[in-house]
Amino acid sequence: MLKATPSAASAHGMHHGDTVAGNGAGVRPYRPRLYDLFVELALIGREPAFRRRLLDLAEPRSGEAVLDVGCGTGSLALMAKEAVGSAGTVCGVDASEQMISWARQKARRIGVEADFQPAQTQVLPYSDARFDVVLSTLTLHHLSKKARAQFAAEARRVVKPGGRILVADFAEESPRKGLRRHLHHRPGAVALHEILALLEGAGLSVVASGPLGIQTVHFALAVVRSSS
Ligand SMILES: C[S@@+](CC[C@H](N)C(=O)[O-])C[C@H]1O[C@@H](n2cnc3c(N)ncnc32)[C@H](O)[C@@H]1O
Repeated sequence: MLKATPSAASAHGMHHGDTVAGNGAGVRPYRPRLYDLFVELALIGREPAFRRRLLDLAEPRSGEAVLDVGCGTGSLALMAKEAVGSAGTVCGVDASEQMISWARQKARRIGVEADFQPAQTQVLPYSDARFDVVLSTLTLHHLSKKARAQFAAEARRVVKPGGRILVADFAEESPRKGLRRHLHHRPGAVALHEILALLEGAGLSVVASGPLGIQTVHFALAVVRSSS
């Protein structure tokens, strides 16, 4: 969805003057305010439904601990906090300092408690078995194959036995033309079989997968078996 040419970059909230940690697949800096606007336009008013559908699948419950990896501006993490309530905790990490700073501002503005930290998907700054739910949406396509495998291993490490990991990403490049293609442009997509292989390769059991029903996004939900 985000292209590194100057015109598309600015339309999608990317800015070449920003800093972002490397991601194993090239540097992709953002302007968070534009990113939020872009998501609203690209999903044509369906962003809340998109986020809700993801949470319906991962089912964060009252008192649980949730981590959003590649959290961007924090929209999904902040919605997850409503689900886990005051007894639960929500953390979000992103390689982009700008995204993290915007997510923190957004949380303060709406009075929702969530901990946002700059970090790479490949090296999560958390202890083993810390979370009940790990989410990663629209981020995998930014990562190199090696970085994806490192992310899957890290997600497996930080999730508790019995915990859930939800990964969602674009299934294909946008088929649209003209302005709509520009708005929907994505340099990357990740085939479902690749997501399944990634999660299974990390020792996770996939319990559900398929199209999300919004654009070309598809998902895989995996669990850590209590005995593994
Ligand atoms: C398309 S945005 C998706 C953001 C959010 N998950 C959402 O659904 O709107 C991709 C995010 O992945 C982040 N990202 C890219 N490579 C990363 C890496 N190696 N580690 C952590 N975050 C990364 C980017 O900074 C960006 O915020």
